[in-house]
Amino acid sequence: MVSASWLSLLLLVALATAASAQLSSTFYSTSCPNALATIKSAVMAAVSQEPRMGASLLRLHFHDCFVQGCDASVLLAGNEQNAGPNLSLRGFNVIDNIKTQVEAICKQTVSCADILTVAARDSVVALGGPSWTVPLGRRDSTTAASSTTVANNLLPPSASLAQLISVYQSKGLSVTDMVALSGAHTIGQAHCPSYRAHIYNDTNINQSFAASLQANCPAGSGGTNVLAPLDTTTANTFDNAYFSNLLSQKGLLHSDQELFNGGSTDNTVRNFASSAAAFSSAFATAMVKMGNISPLTGTQGEVRLKCSATN
Ligand code: HEM
Repeated sequence: MVSASWLSLLLLVALATAASAQLSSTFYSTSCPNALATIKSAVMAAVSQEPRMGASLLRLHFHDCFVQGCDASVLLAGNEQNAGPNLSLRGFNVIDNIKTQVEAICKQTVSCADILTVAARDSVVALGGPSWTVPLGRRDSTTAASSTTVANNLLPPSASLAQLISVYQSKGLSVTDMVALSGAHTIGQAHCPSYRAHIYNDTNINQSFAASLQANCPAGSGGTNVLAPLDTTTANTFDNAYFSNLLSQKGLLHSDQELFNGGSTDNTVRNFASSAAAFSSAFATAMVKMGNISPLTGTQGEVRLKCSATN
């Protein structure tokens, strides 16, 4: 006969296991077998309507994972979304729309954190980049982060190489992961205030490239709504041109050019510029690692009914 104390110990172990369950790529195989196909076709439609949306969804996933882990906290209306680095995020409506479609086939089963992770992968694929298998089973947070937490975890474009290395290391990401993930800037756009200091004050920038950007982004202030592609050669294609641009001092952000500025990451940039395959494989590996940052699993958090609000 098992004693009551043994039973409660067993129960505790079972609960602890459930709470810290591992992510698994087959998590929805029986509970929602069409979830991944539904997300993929919605992302394909959104990206074919507006290619930049692929970049915006990828960035949304990064901003989610680096702040409080990949828990969809960035999707909650409020403090976290209103913090400086998050003000230019886009794509919330696309995620809300995907969630509506997924809820229609499987009620309260697929988390917003997983939808965002899969949508980021599908966005990269939609723009011609590599594919990878996404571990699943994240749950959604019941709280958003404060603006201080956002500022501490998302570096500004003025960041130095040392700062970049240190923040990624604090998330369990290596220097190679950091350089590979920065390759996400092979797609999408930035606003003039994000690159103004680089094009006017820095010397490690191609002069004609700087001059062409200065024509639309005024010195001092203004140009708030002016956009420029992060990859000046192929803005809507997920390729390795971002790294070739760095070799010719055509990184748009100060933080981009930091990766190729005589420091410890120069050789990795050269390697990714010369081998699309090396970049693709390192990017896929690093995306899985980024997607695994402090997920809520098991009985932690909840599966939201709507991505923009807690239940
Ligand atoms: C920690 C280093 C990083 C810094 C300092 C940084 C900074 C920025 C800045 C300043 C912008 C432009 C914002 C604007 O002016 O509207 C931007 C855009 C973007 N970032 Fe990053 N970023 C970093 C890492 C990443 C990572 C790791 C990813 C994804 C894996 C990523 C994906 C993107 C994408 C795709 C865009 C374009 C979004 C769009 O067009 O809507 N970034 N980033």
